[in-house]
Amino acid sequence: MKFTFLLVQCIVMFFCSFILEAQKIDEKKKMGVFVATLMKKMTLEEKLGQLNLVTPIARTGPFATKNASDKMKDGSAGNVFGLHGSPASIHTRLLYPENSRLKIPLLSGLDIVHGFQTIFPIPLGLSCSWDLPLIEKTARIAAVEASAVGYNWTFSPMVDISRDPRWGRVMEGSGEDPYLGSLIAAAMVKGYQGSDLNNETSLMACVKHFALYGAAEAGRDYNTSDMSRITMFQNYLPPYKAAIDAGAGSVMVSFNDVEGVPATANKWLLTDLLRKKWGFNGFVVTDYNAIAELINHGVAEDYKQAAALSLNAGVDMDMVSESMIASLKQSLAEGKVSISEIDNACRRVLEAKYKLGLFTNPYRNYDPDRAVKVTLTDESKMVAKEAALKSAVLLENKKGILPLKEDAKIALIGPLANDKREMFSSWTIKGDTPSVVTIYEGIKKINPNVVYAEGTQISSDSLFNVKKGLEFNVARQKELVKEALETARNSDVIVAVLGESSIMSGEAKSFADISIPSCQRELLKALKATGKPVVLLLINGRPLTIEDDLPYVDAVLDMWRPGTEAGSAAADLIFGKYNPSGRLTMTFPRSVGQIPIYYNSKSTGRPYIQGVEGYFSNYLDQLNTPLYPFGYGLSYSSFEYSAITLSSTEVKGSNATIKATITITNNGSFAGEETAQLYLNDPVASIARPVRELKAFQKVFLQPKESKQVTFTLTSEDLKFFNSSLQWDWESGKFIIYVGSNSQTSNHAEFIWRK
Ligand code: NOJ
Repeated sequence: MKFTFLLVQCIVMFFCSFILEAQKIDEKKKMGVFVATLMKKMTLEEKLGQLNLVTPIARTGPFATKNASDKMKDGSAGNVFGLHGSPASIHTRLLYPENSRLKIPLLSGLDIVHGFQTIFPIPLGLSCSWDLPLIEKTARIAAVEASAVGYNWTFSPMVDISRDPRWGRVMEGSGEDPYLGSLIAAAMVKGYQGSDLNNETSLMACVKHFALYGAAEAGRDYNTSDMSRITMFQNYLPPYKAAIDAGAGSVMVSFNDVEGVPATANKWLLTDLLRKKWGFNGFVVTDYNAIAELINHGVAEDYKQAAALSLNAGVDMDMVSESMIASLKQSLAEGKVSISEIDNACRRVLEAKYKLGLFTNPYRNYDPDRAVKVTLTDESKMVAKEAALKSAVLLENKKGILPLKEDAKIALIGPLANDKREMFSSWTIKGDTPSVVTIYEGIKKINPNVVYAEGTQISSDSLFNVKKGLEFNVARQKELVKEALETARNSDVIVAVLGESSIMSGEAKSFADISIPSCQRELLKALKATGKPVVLLLINGRPLTIEDDLPYVDAVLDMWRPGTEAGSAAADLIFGKYNPSGRLTMTFPRSVGQIPIYYNSKSTGRPYIQGVEGYFSNYLDQLNTPLYPFGYGLSYSSFEYSAITLSSTEVKGSNATIKATITITNNGSFAGEETAQLYLNDPVASIARPVRELKAFQKVFLQPKESKQVTFTLTSEDLKFFNSSLQWDWESGKFIIYVGSNSQTSNHAEFIWRK
């Protein structure tokens, strides 16, 4: 009976998948016919218009497009990004193509990076939740909100792996690990695009910045990146690939060069790898003005050559430089580009519009009434709060100072504690500021006696202030500190909210010194001198070098840039209504001299062993170890791991599996969530392999004193790496796995796996 039921189920499933596959093929055919028919009617100029992406306002780049509106009207710009203003004015501009001959609808893009109007923590913070369904949900909410007011394309996810916190854009990515980064990349694509791009709530995702943008030398934005192909394939490319495999409809090219050839003109990257090897069939857009910048890179003499190089390399759309629209006609006449290249690019852009359903619904379900209903809903705010709670990482908690008693006399100090806009980031384009719950407001709701003082200005760094048009006022600073100390003296505990302002991280926001600005550090010292315990709530877009600040604090809770529900989350965290569960996805260095520092490094021929001095890989003036490693994060509970039990210590063949089981016990008095992490080391291989690599993780919720078993199943896929022939394969031998609460755990077991 059971067997017959199963058989029937299998047959039904087989036919359903067959029908679905057939529908897909049918849909693809229909799209092909539609686009081909349309293209037959198009002039060369109209085709080139589809390759042109304009912006009416210079919000995210050095300049705006001249006469963007006219170009949208006459079809010489088939795509726009950065439409601002009221929903009605956005709609009016989406109607512009109605005046053009073929009335081809516009792609309407925007940098929707961590929420649209409901703002979630910055992506680096979100990644610290290690919570894929939650991350997907945040992207979904952003898509629902943004699609209702006329956007159909988001320049996200940014999946650039980075090992350098000096680079200001680490805030936009998911940290240093390719495995976790890949899972998050796929989750975000699914969230934005939903189950079908042709749905009223879907946005097309644009995975960026392809490729290696996060490896900018010296952490200086837009700088060159250079690395071996093995490192590239093993550590930097997987998240882009994962986003593409998840169906991302578009790819944005990075500003940097890859092996000497700027990505924007790199045929190996954009055609051989992306299209031919990975099978990407969406469209490729440059970054802001990047075609024109090929001249600065020194690979093109003028715009004309630059545009031809880009098109021939595999670029389909020109963001802002307008080199393609200006020159490709002439390049075609001169035989520098072919009509089939132009047609391919045009076809890919039109296919994207087709997939989004724009040809049947050009205004992409623009519906202000719906927008009001779906924006900043109670449910979205709940998700924003959950995201802020789960992103926060407890870095220090000396003598269990946290959580605080709800009736403690709190002195809340710091310029970031009661500033709504500061809970956002430099990538918050449309966030609704009035909806933000500041940290002050959040704490006050639970503890009405909290007293607030601003305490300090953001930065006393003169070069920074000059570059940002700010001024540090010495007299004012004295006043602020004085007031803060008076407030602190009347309290039981000081909660200092310090770190970076929103203009200190993001694009073009690299720092050579990533410590807390000195005026803030001085305040911290003075606060500590009052003798009151000090809790530091960090607001930041990157790992900071805070080792020297630790003597002046009793607890450190990293909130990143937490978004709309900053204050309600902060309050729940510090009063213990939520037990911190975030785990770092990017290493915190002790000092800038250690950078690049990351957990999955290779061991070198002369690895350093603490205490054994001599000719070993180490610094004479600094430890090798980070301040806080990848995967690290404290909880109000303490989780104990048992030894690892393996289902087998020796297996053979690609189809074998090994189960690794541990028991985790919550030894604390708070219920809480632990993220059990499994790392693998391949000690003898044909190439030097990392000391360990994350291969799996599981989140477990444990009541006080509760124990749970966690089992990981390893397959030969987990043993694979890119060898020197760039083949993704595994090699027989001994392997060591580590299972614990962060990347430095010593809890390990060994096994042999033979081919
Ligand atoms: C430049 C940035 O690098 C990119 O991430 C962004 O999407 C574009 N500007 C458009 O704003």
